[in-house]
Amino acid sequence: MIQNENPVILALCCHYCAFAAADLAGSMRLQYPASVRVLRFPCTGKIEVNYIMEAVENGADGVLIAGCLQGGCHFKEGNLRARRRVERTKKILEELGLEPERVEMFNLSSAEGTRFAEIVTIMHERLQKLKPSPFRKEVSELKDAKI
Ligand code: FES
Repeated sequence: MIQNENPVILALCCHYCAFAAADLAGSMRLQYPASVRVLRFPCTGKIEVNYIMEAVENGADGVLIAGCLQGGCHFKEGNLRARRRVERTKKILEELGLEPERVEMFNLSSAEGTRFAEIVTIMHERLQKLKPSPFRKEVSELKDAKI
């Protein structure tokens, strides 16, 4: 049952693989939910638990972290570090009474534009089954938010 028609998704992508795949998906004119906002990082190893939590606290219904394939990180172990941080974030969400599945880590290569579109669709459909984030702001509140 759909509880949230248009969930807001933040995609934290590494520059080398996931962001390039997102770019490729655009070039290929692939269709995927428009409610995703993509943020580029040099490597997913730079993504701290508090960045993900801040996205949730600021109203994202879900956060996906997308990095290079296992063993393919350009900074050796950044994506492994990111996976551990995602697992830690899931535990924190659970302790706060939020669904841990709001956050997920994915791995893909720069050639996988189709996979990027799939990942966004997977998260979109998963989040549609959950209620909107309790932190989600109304549009009027966003106008006053400091960026
Ligand atoms: Fe892509 Fe590290 S460079 S995850």
